[in-house]
Amino acid sequence: MAKNVGILAMDIYFPPTCIQQEALEAHDGASKGKYTIGLGQDCMAFCTELEDVISMSLTVVTSLLEKYGVDAKQIGRLEVGSETVIDKSKSIKTFLMQIFEKFGNTDIEGVDSTNACYGGTAALFNCVNWVESSSWDGRYGLVVCTDSAVYAEGPARPTGGAAAIAMLIGPDAPIAFESKLRGSHMSHAYDFYKPNLASEYPVVDGKLSQTCYLMALDSCYKHFCDKYEKVEGKQFYISDADYFVFHSPYNKLVQKSFARLLFNDFLRNPSSLAEGAKEKLHPFSTLSGEESYQNRDLEKASQQVAKPLYDEKVQPTTLIPKQVGNMYTASLYAAFASLIHNKKSTLAGNRVVLFSYGSGLTATIFSLRLRDCQHPFSLSNISTVMDIAGKLKSRHEFPPEKFVETMKLMEHRYGAKDIVTSKDSSLLLTGTYYLTEVDSMYRRFYAKKTSDSSITPSNNGSIANGHCK
Ligand SMILES: CC(C)(COP(=O)(O)OP(=O)(O)OC[C@H]1O[C@@H](n2cnc3c(N)ncnc32)[C@H](O)[C@@H]1OP(=O)(O)O)[C@@H](O)C(=O)NCCC(=O)NCCS
Repeated sequence: MAKNVGILAMDIYFPPTCIQQEALEAHDGASKGKYTIGLGQDCMAFCTELEDVISMSLTVVTSLLEKYGVDAKQIGRLEVGSETVIDKSKSIKTFLMQIFEKFGNTDIEGVDSTNACYGGTAALFNCVNWVESSSWDGRYGLVVCTDSAVYAEGPARPTGGAAAIAMLIGPDAPIAFESKLRGSHMSHAYDFYKPNLASEYPVVDGKLSQTCYLMALDSCYKHFCDKYEKVEGKQFYISDADYFVFHSPYNKLVQKSFARLLFNDFLRNPSSLAEGAKEKLHPFSTLSGEESYQNRDLEKASQQVAKPLYDEKVQPTTLIPKQVGNMYTASLYAAFASLIHNKKSTLAGNRVVLFSYGSGLTATIFSLRLRDCQHPFSLSNISTVMDIAGKLKSRHEFPPEKFVETMKLMEHRYGAKDIVTSKDSSLLLTGTYYLTEVDSMYRRFYAKKTSDSSITPSNNGSIANGHCK
């Protein structure tokens, strides 16, 4: 069996168009600080008419293959996680096959996985399991998480975002799975769902989704700790992992989640915490599970107790989710990418625990062990290739009015045909794919920006109806 299977290489793409949360807050008439301090968000990326989940995945996959020098023929499995529906039958994976067909590689298993923000994790597990299985043919797996998170006007709108992430999967990886350490919780809930197929917007019960998230976290953590004890012969506490990465709809929920893990450690074994912390949490030790989700004093006390550990073990994972927003399936992996960006090769030897949550609901806690590996698959090279600081710096801020106008246009365009976009790619970086047309048969056409000229001819490196020209 292949050893140390995991993530060999990563790349991330997010749209260069964004809006500052402070500006949106003022525009929406929300009280000052609600989006920035209350939700903990700084900025939000969004797709204009030129970009969608397909163009973002074409961009990120092409970039990953080029920057790590991976031959398209070396890919044996391609899995996509997404909850942004463009077609109810044709998978996003099949659009990405255009990249591989060019090189004569059509022998690639895998399709799309969908369950809210969890689809990327399902795709990742499929690839890792494949490489660890007897059906593995020795080639790489490739996972793509791609989503555009948009909400109707109202309280959920500031929790949008957009991005695509690609992860190359294989043995001897710098980011290796501790495959026996996984705890899942799956159940039925109507916290966030997309029943209206004529609209890109979800139906969301925001308060219920927070409680579902925290309940799923507790349950996953319990299963994870039980499995850890079986494998390692001792109890798991927060101190046994160097970093914790959470699915991040907005940063405040991440702060609450980490505090919740600490409260779990306290309930299991109060002496796992320092005296002062124990005293602060003691008044809440007799609350029922249900009561504890609604208790504001507990929330406040546990966040206060957890703050120093949060700063050490979670804060380094928060950069992209705070700057780009909720990226649905890509959100957890963007948080993980933030950690690599911040800590680079110092992560070698560290254990990183991740919590993936998808409304509806599906959730898993799993563990990664980070290792020193050779170029190009080293932690420092992954950080260099992703160039997160450069990508964040080269963004263009839209005023709220222009953002709202873009959302209105996208509402109108959702599911439509006979569309020709402006093709003005001046805000996009070279190498970015963008939508040029949806024809009378709903077939989508994309082009690749090949230079810094503002209008790229659509026949220059373009992809038309499933074929690269
Ligand atoms: C998350 C969501 C419910 C918040 O909307 P809301 O109900 O209008 O917001 P709230 O009134 O609860 O305010 C949000 C936070 O900001 C705080 N806040 C409000 N105004 C504030 C201000 N002026 N300054 C500082 N903080 C402020 C609130 O106290 C609250 O913090 P708390 O949770 O610690 O109490 C909404 O954005 C949503 O539905 N998002 C999508 C669903 C989602 O992402 N779910 C996550 C699970 S996947």
